[in-house]
Amino acid sequence: MKIVLGVSGGIAAYKAAELARLLQQAGYRVQAVMTRAAREFVAPMTLAALTGEKVITDLFPPETAAASPADAEAAIEHIAVAQAADALVVAPATAHVLAKFAHGFADDFLSTLYLATTAPVILAPAMNLNMWRHAATQANLETLRRRPGHVLVEPGAGYLACGMVGEGRLAELEAIVAALERALAQGQRDLAGRKVLITAGPTREAIDPVRYLSNRSSGKMGFALAEAAARRGAAVVLVAGPTAAEPPRASGIEVIPVTTAEEMAAAALAQFPHVDLAILAAAVADYRPVKPAGEKIKKTAAPLHLELEPTPDILAACGRAKRHQILVGFAAETGSPVAAGRAKLQAKAADMIVANDVTLPGAGFDADENEVFLITASGDRKLERAPKSKIAGQILDAAAALLAPSPSVRLVRA
Ligand code: CTP
Repeated sequence: MKIVLGVSGGIAAYKAAELARLLQQAGYRVQAVMTRAAREFVAPMTLAALTGEKVITDLFPPETAAASPADAEAAIEHIAVAQAADALVVAPATAHVLAKFAHGFADDFLSTLYLATTAPVILAPAMNLNMWRHAATQANLETLRRRPGHVLVEPGAGYLACGMVGEGRLAELEAIVAALERALAQGQRDLAGRKVLITAGPTREAIDPVRYLSNRSSGKMGFALAEAAARRGAAVVLVAGPTAAEPPRASGIEVIPVTTAEEMAAAALAQFPHVDLAILAAAVADYRPVKPAGEKIKKTAAPLHLELEPTPDILAACGRAKRHQILVGFAAETGSPVAAGRAKLQAKAADMIVANDVTLPGAGFDADENEVFLITASGDRKLERAPKSKIAGQILDAAAALLAPSPSVRLVRA
């Protein structure tokens, strides 16, 4: 998961370096965004070296005679960073930053990113005691406390850099990490008690002992779905074809490695009756050699003909076996994805098809980003280009909305 660490300008800014390290130890990727004042207290290089990520300091590149396309890209970078963030942690958050956030001012990278993100926001204020107690600051804090998705990690009391003793000291760093973890878990456990089947990656169909038919699927989309579902509380069975990417080994995910379409079909269909939701993201080979050669095929001058037969269609088989399950398939298309996806929705008795145009550069097959259409009986919706982890969350939101209420959820009449 990616955490954007906003650092604003106060003495406590030096503690952001230690916080970045703690967040990394907890398994998060960290990207730091520093305000101009923060850079008076800590060098961006310190955070860049610790996080291994570019530290963002300015909304606009330094004034140059002629603006380049790279400058234009930098000017909209806050949107990309905002979309990729799983959470925004601002530590320390100064009185000025709290005021800007409370009122929606967007005049630098951090405040602009704040408005552009929909991720949870964790604010750890630190300032002089009188600034903390000021009615303006308290009013802004009240506004932010009441804002959905916002968590304030209240400052501690103690000796302050200004020489005063009282509230205003940045909270313990461990308390900030704990608040982040609670915020990420909260409201996101909507798949607790659910069992989810996910297929991912390509399959390989042997031609002879050393050669096979396959495709360019990296498995990343399916792996992102498995991780996101597990994080939301589901028990996940991930049936994974062979890829270079490592399948996620997080708790809550059982990985069943397979090689061929036949093996993937057997593993997936054995699991299907026991799950609530099945998302078939694998790029299954549609055909396999009828008779794979037992020995390596030798080269001759004559053309080589391979006779191919269809593999089992796992999605269609799940569609036929469907009882209570919600069934989600993918449609990788080179033509019009919506029309083709809608045809697959009906042909395979799926509840939702995630359709994408695999010819788009930088999205889909073997890429880290995707842009897709979600197609259901009630219509279709485009998900704008975003990292696959983000797209995974949006697919799960849509799939979770189709699930019948969990038996553990009781309606209470007031
Ligand atoms: N799929 C499957 N078993 C197969 C082929 C595909 O379960 N043998 C699933 C994929 O996991 C995906 C969906 O079917 O969820 C659509 O895959 P795609 O290859 O786009 O569609 P096909 O049905 O194979 O149709 P075509 O290749 O003709 O577009």
